[in-house]
Amino acid sequence: MLFLFSILVAAVLSSAAPPQWYTRNRDTIQKIYNLTIFPANAKIIAEGAPAVPPGLFNANATGRVTPVGEFFGFQDSFEYFFGLAPLPTGSPPNGAISNATLVEFTSGCPEVAASTVWLTVSTINSDNSTGPFITALKQTAFWRFDDEGAVLQYEAWIPDLDLFSPLDHGYDQYTLDGMNRTIQGICALQDTTCVGSNTVYDGISDCVQTLAAKPYGRSDESWGDNVVCRGIHVLLTKIRPEVHCAHVGPTGGGKCIDVEYNDVYFNDEFLFGAPLGTPFTCDYGED
Ligand SMILES: *[C@@H]1O[C@H](CO)[C@@H](O)[C@H](O)[C@H]1NC(C)=O
Ligand SMILES: *[C@@H]1O[C@H](CO)[C@@H](O)[C@H](O)[C@H]1NC(C)=O
Ligand SMILES: *[C@@H]1O[C@H](CO)[C@@H](O)[C@H](O)[C@H]1NC(C)=O
Ligand SMILES: *[C@@H]1O[C@H](CO)[C@@H](O)[C@H](O)[C@H]1NC(C)=O
Ligand SMILES: *[C@@H]1O[C@H](CO)[C@@H](O)[C@H](O)[C@H]1NC(C)=O
Repeated sequence: MLFLFSILVAAVLSSAAPPQWYTRNRDTIQKIYNLTIFPANAKIIAEGAPAVPPGLFNANATGRVTPVGEFFGFQDSFEYFFGLAPLPTGSPPNGAISNATLVEFTSGCPEVAASTVWLTVSTINSDNSTGPFITALKQTAFWRFDDEGAVLQYEAWIPDLDLFSPLDHGYDQYTLDGMNRTIQGICALQDTTCVGSNTVYDGISDCVQTLAAKPYGRSDESWGDNVVCRGIHVLLTKIRPEVHCAHVGPTGGGKCIDVEYNDVYFNDEFLFGAPLGTPFTCDYGED
């Protein structure tokens, strides 16, 4: 009798609506990824912080995205999530994100959730409608939310960027031609965004010469004094040139610099300001 009753209770509980915070956390994450979809990302790149809806990120939102880097505060965080989402380039495959689907999600308490998203990259037609599928970017993340449900901390991973990038770029960046093409692209873009007091190179050819002498780097480990790192940070010069031009410049401005794997991928206490193991664990107390 008790056994049957237990089964009945379990059946009722399993079909019950999820707690309000479960749905809230999932919606917050979904809303963030929805803003990577073109042209929502284009609006944020053009208008900056005011174009980011309130309530998604805490002012102190901080996180690490492997293999891209660490991001401190709201401005850094929205620049990462939306400023790096691709824009159509005007040449094939002319891709941008067309769909953001949470394929994995769980949240066991109001303050923590985990998710995997597929960000579909499709060709964007000249009228901005979505064309054929190109590829997808996968991101898995742990999230911590503040009391209002805004993201306070995140640790995310993007696997297989080296396999993603030739599909997204439309060329193999690791051939000599591909490396040249990437360097030319970075140097041409910074020449339009890093101007006046934000100038970091003495013209495009100075930039090309400087970058050609650097290690090229890899998309799967882009953090370093290399070309691939500058290829990421140059995109952010459209939003905050006064900060990001230095990262594209000859010294890497403290961002595109060689880092110690043993330090930067394990400095959780420094990054999150909380004891190791706590930021992404539910607050059930010590015992
Ligand atoms: C995300 O975008 C999809 C497609 O436009 C939409 O159906 C969905 O409601 C959005 N989700 C949230 C939480 O805003
Ligand atoms: C962000 O951190 C600063 C410094 O610790 C603190 O004073 C401020 O209240 C925090 N802001 C939010 C929105 O939590
Ligand atoms: C987005 O992608 C998912 C997973 O591939 C798919 O199930 C869904 O139908 C797509 N949504 C739209 C609006 O295309
Ligand atoms: C496509 O989107 C971009 C970015 O928002 C915008 O500048 C452009 O005018 C749009 N093009 C069309 C044809 O709507
Ligand atoms: C690199 O590309 C530029 C522009 O397309 C071209 O002028 C130059 O000859 C190329 N350099 C090399 C070394 O292939």
